[in-house]
Amino acid sequence: MFRHLADGLISMATIHDLQTPALLLDPQALDANIAAMALALPGERLRPHVKAHKCTAIAARQRAAGHSRFCCATIREMEGMAAAGLGEDLLLANEVLDASRLGALDARVTVAVDSEETINAAVRGGVGEVLIDVNVGLPRCGCPPARAGALADAARRKGLGVRGVMGYEGHAVGVAARAEREQACSESMALLMKAHAEVGGELISAGGTGTYDCNTWASEIQAGSYVLMDTAYAALALPFAQAFWVLATVISLGDGFAVADCGLKALGMDHGNPTIEGARIWFCSDEHITFAPEKPVAIGDHIRVLPAHVDPTVAYHESFHLVAGDQVIDTWPVDLRGW
Ligand SMILES: Cc1ncc(COP(=O)(O)O)c(C=O)c1O
Repeated sequence: MFRHLADGLISMATIHDLQTPALLLDPQALDANIAAMALALPGERLRPHVKAHKCTAIAARQRAAGHSRFCCATIREMEGMAAAGLGEDLLLANEVLDASRLGALDARVTVAVDSEETINAAVRGGVGEVLIDVNVGLPRCGCPPARAGALADAARRKGLGVRGVMGYEGHAVGVAARAEREQACSESMALLMKAHAEVGGELISAGGTGTYDCNTWASEIQAGSYVLMDTAYAALALPFAQAFWVLATVISLGDGFAVADCGLKALGMDHGNPTIEGARIWFCSDEHITFAPEKPVAIGDHIRVLPAHVDPTVAYHESFHLVAGDQVIDTWPVDLRGW
C-alpha cells in the first residue's frame, strides 16, 4: 500500500494515514490461528463459519489450509462465497422463508430447516439439500429433538436430500469454566445424537470456537471466531491470538479522561465494553469511547481498541487494513456484509 507525496514520490502507507475508526488485521496472527485450527480439526472436520470475518480473502486462506466446506449465516454470505469460487459445499446454518436466491447459486447449497414452512421454502427456492436444525439448548432456531425425524421424513417426501442434523450449542461455547463448558456441550450433543438417530445422514454439524476441542460428537465443527478472536473468547485461554482490533484517534481530553473516535457504531458491544491496554473504559457512546488512561495521552494519538465481540464489530466496517507494525501492507474488503 502506497501513498502519494506532494513532490510526486510515493511511500508506504502507515496506520497514521488511515481514517479512523479503522479495522486493523495482523496477518501473522491470522495465519497462526488458521494453522492452529487446521492442525486440530483438519479438512472437513472443520466447516469454518464466515459470519465472524465476512471476508472472502480470509475464507480463501481457510480454503488453502484445507477446509473446503463453509458455513454462512446470511444469503449475502452464501452469494459472496459462491461468486468468489468458494462454493464447493456451502451450508446456510440459518432458517430462510425465501430461498430463491440460494437456488440460483452456482454452488453446492445446503440450508438448515426446522419447520414445514422452511422445508417448503427450500423446495420452492430450488435448493436440493437440507440439514434438520435441532434446538440443543440455545433458545434460537431449531426444532425440538423429538420432532427431527418427522421433519426429515417430510423433507424427503418433498424430494429434498437430507444430509443430517445441525445443532448449535451457542449457550455453551462462551462458558468460562472448562468443566462446565464441557458438561453443557455434552448435554447438548446428547440431544443432537438422539435426533440424528431418527434423521440419519452423514453430517452432524455443531460447535463453535469455545467447544472446538471438547465437542467430540459432531462430524464437523462450525467455528468462526477463532480466526480473529475477541476479548470475550480470550478469557477462555484458547490457543488462538487476537488478530484484529479497531484503530482510534484521541480527539479530546478531559479532567482525568480522554475521548477517542470509536463508539457503538464501530464496535459490537453485546459482550460488554472493549479493552484499551493501560486504560480503564468509562463508557462508549455512538461515536466516542471515553477512557481513563494510566499514562497521559495527547490529542491525535492513535490507540488500539480490542472489541469484546468480533462478529458484530466486523459487520460495521467496510475493510480490513493488514498491518506489519505501523505499515499498512494491504486492504481486504469486508465483502460479505449485507443481507
Ligand atoms: C450456527 C452457528 N454456528 C457456529 C457459530 C460459530 O461460533 P463461534 O463464534 O464460537 O466460532 C455461530 C456463531 O454465532 C453460529 O451462530
